[in-house]
Amino acid sequence: MPSRLRAPAGWLRLEGVTRNNLKALDCAFPLGVLTTVTGISGSGKSSLVSQALVELVGEALGAAAPVEEPEDAEALLEDRPAAPSEGRIVGGIEDIRRLIEVDQKPIGRTPRSNLATYTGLFDHVRALFAATPEARTRHYDAGRFSFNVAKGRCPRCEGEGFVMVELLFLPSVYAPCPVCHGTRYNPKTLEIIYRGKSIADVLALTVEGAWDFFADAPNVCRSLKVLREVGLDYLRLGQPATEFSGGEAQRVKLATELQRAQRGGALYVLDEPTTGLHPTDVERLLNQLQTLVDTGNSVILVDHDMKLAAASDWVIDIGPVPVKMAAVLSSQARRQELRRSRPAAPQPIYGARWERSRSQARPERRLGTLRGKQSARYRGVTVRPA
Ligand SMILES: Nc1ncnc2c1ncn2[C@@H]1O[C@H](COP(=O)(O)OP(=O)(O)OP(=O)(O)O)[C@@H](O)[C@H]1O
Ligand SMILES: [Mg+2]
Ligand SMILES: [Zn+2]
Repeated sequence: MPSRLRAPAGWLRLEGVTRNNLKALDCAFPLGVLTTVTGISGSGKSSLVSQALVELVGEALGAAAPVEEPEDAEALLEDRPAAPSEGRIVGGIEDIRRLIEVDQKPIGRTPRSNLATYTGLFDHVRALFAATPEARTRHYDAGRFSFNVAKGRCPRCEGEGFVMVELLFLPSVYAPCPVCHGTRYNPKTLEIIYRGKSIADVLALTVEGAWDFFADAPNVCRSLKVLREVGLDYLRLGQPATEFSGGEAQRVKLATELQRAQRGGALYVLDEPTTGLHPTDVERLLNQLQTLVDTGNSVILVDHDMKLAAASDWVIDIGPVPVKMAAVLSSQARRQELRRSRPAAPQPIYGARWERSRSQARPERRLGTLRGKQSARYRGVTVRPA
């Protein structure tokens, strides 16, 4: 937890946000700080942050909000918002240069993209192989060690490592390539050995294993360092991007962003980044986010994790509670308050203020009774900096 609270360097102000259950909401997000948006499930956190804010800022920056190619018709239906966001930015956009949404959507659609290629560390690994005496004698360049380039890869599977086997009467299945046995490369390429390992052996290393193996290769270590810091030390370098879980994909994206030269002025948006994370990994993620803010960026995250909320500079709480309190933006003093409340309590944030005045209401009851009327409760609610 940082010893000092950061003061906002500016405010991103939105007005008239109407999306899903949010109706004509005015709100302001502090810039240059770490902000956590909390609230019970269905309160509208994602609607406000991942949908309205991302779309409005994306549009304002000129780049239309990132739209991923839908995989199938079902995904298309799922992705389409019921109604497009309404609302406008009334201030603060001039302080934002880039918008980065670190979401859990899958990375890539083909197994050609893997951890090593996506993070860019494979470029450096290939350069190391090309610099070995044997590779130089044979005039093998770095491209030789790419399974996406014809000269070095297995001709049978074209570098995929597996082949499709057509079965009579049954759907086709993938099987390891009978020629390269899944190594992806042709025998000549595999003859090049860097410190006892072929390029295929390197792809089989985990992040942790590679950390030791490439200890004195700073370019490779830079990527490995952030991957370890976001808790992905167990992934294999050659693990296809299509095999990452949603949370892993999100952390791979975050790690890739983190190792880029940090120039500041970026707004990072993360929706529930701690889902499924081990507590020690939450700690690591938090450190990464703090670093991003320290280098002049803004971070807005939606999360239920009290550790993150308590370590944030600002907390914006959205909750289906009586209109006056429906959305509470906490001040710096408020964070101190949060720190005093027990982080392990189930819903300390949204409950804290409200429960004090209405201690008879139990969280389960509130959920049950308020759900049906959420929309009405958000009408005209204003969130303002304290
Ligand atoms: N595409 C949509 N079309 C219509 N209603 C939606 C849509 N997406 C969300 N909603 C509704 O809007 C409300 C807010 O949803 P939202 O996803 O913003 O909640 P949330 O606070 O992010 O919840 P969680 O913590 O479960 O992610 C919910 O009642 C939800 O059913
Ligand atoms: Mg959500
Ligand atoms: Zn092959």
